[in-house]
Amino acid sequence: MSTSNLITGGAGFIGANLAQRLLSQGERVLILDNLSRPNVEQNVAWLRQQFGEHAELRVADVRDLAAVRDCVRQVDHVFHLAAQVAVTTSLAAPLEDFDVNARGTLHVLEAVRTQPKPPSLFFTSTNKVYGELARLSLSATPRGYLPMAADLSEHGVREDAPLDFHSPYGCSKGCADQYVLDHARCFGLRSVVFRMSCIYGPRQFGTEDQGWVAHFMLQALQQQPVTVYGDGQQTRDLLFVADLVSAFLAARSRLDVCAGQVFNVGGGPRNFSSVLDVLERTRRLTGWHLPVQFADWRTGDQRYYVSDHRKLTRLTGWQPRVTVTEGLGLLHEWLSSLVPPSQTQPVAQGRSEARMEGLAQRAAP
Ligand SMILES: NC(=O)c1ccc[n+]([C@@H]2O[C@H](COP(=O)([O-])OP(=O)(O)OC[C@H]3O[C@@H](n4cnc5c(N)ncnc54)[C@H](O)[C@@H]3O)[C@@H](O)[C@H]2O)c1
Repeated sequence: MSTSNLITGGAGFIGANLAQRLLSQGERVLILDNLSRPNVEQNVAWLRQQFGEHAELRVADVRDLAAVRDCVRQVDHVFHLAAQVAVTTSLAAPLEDFDVNARGTLHVLEAVRTQPKPPSLFFTSTNKVYGELARLSLSATPRGYLPMAADLSEHGVREDAPLDFHSPYGCSKGCADQYVLDHARCFGLRSVVFRMSCIYGPRQFGTEDQGWVAHFMLQALQQQPVTVYGDGQQTRDLLFVADLVSAFLAARSRLDVCAGQVFNVGGGPRNFSSVLDVLERTRRLTGWHLPVQFADWRTGDQRYYVSDHRKLTRLTGWQPRVTVTEGLGLLHEWLSSLVPPSQTQPVAQGRSEARMEGLAQRAAP
């Protein structure tokens, strides 16, 4: 019988890419998603187009424990991605943010723990658990903010950086992150936590609140301006989504050493970019001058964050493979196919999909 997987939030950006990879490998996929993120039904339609009813969807909420239990009962592996994903929304509605992210994760843990043979569990946490990282000494360089400490500058932030939950989103995801790790300790669950930074790529319906790389590109394709919060010199490591999916599967294939562990996962120092750099690349790809207005820094925004992913590399051999130039090109192709032709030159969907498949093969560990 083929391996079976549950992906909570599987209609979303990362979940749909993960589902596509697993289904292509002949595995079973059950998606639990309440379809609350605008446009994600298009991701389900995309999966259905390729895999028909093999892309199984249960429209349900992670706050519904009975529905979660019912789905968990059927699978070997659980990828828990469903979440309230925006810091801005968490500030406006902290109770709901807590309910979905913290309590929802506890539902998944309860459902997993109480199975006669508990499935393994992979949880998508965030670099926000490290807070603003205000204690780091940074210098403003032409490439954006960089740490003064040579080791940090060379390798990025490690998993033993102090936790400092900042913003309701940081708190609810951080709470979930710690529960998932603790369930490995107390109950022997085979659970893994990924603290992810900036993930980008096709199937992300980016908005000003979340998914800034796709948001910039979409605005440029629609010949609209963008707002940059802060000075735009913030630096991040960008990770293309096919590489992230490979990271999940690399950890799944080495559960003997990865269970109970936390990993920082991102593009690392080689895929480092500032917000202004991504803006410039977006301008070049779209040919639109993309007007920018600046606004105040957002709560908890890190001036510098780059993942030190060497722990995952050491345990599984995983490495990011897709460069920022290649990845932004693919994102541009996909978003161009969504924007009405009057506003841009449409790009055939098939071309971008075929190149994605090629990259998925290259990204495989
Ligand atoms: N994209 C990134 O850069 C990034 C970075 C760090 C962490 N993460 C984490 O990765 C996960 C996936 O993020 P994404 O970028 O694919 O976001 P996304 O918004 O595209 O996907 C999340 C999915 O969860 C669903 N969902 C939301 N609330 C739900 C609920 N109560 N019950 C069931 N389903 C619900 C949404 O409909 C959506 O399909 C999230 O947990 C997020 O916190 C993402």
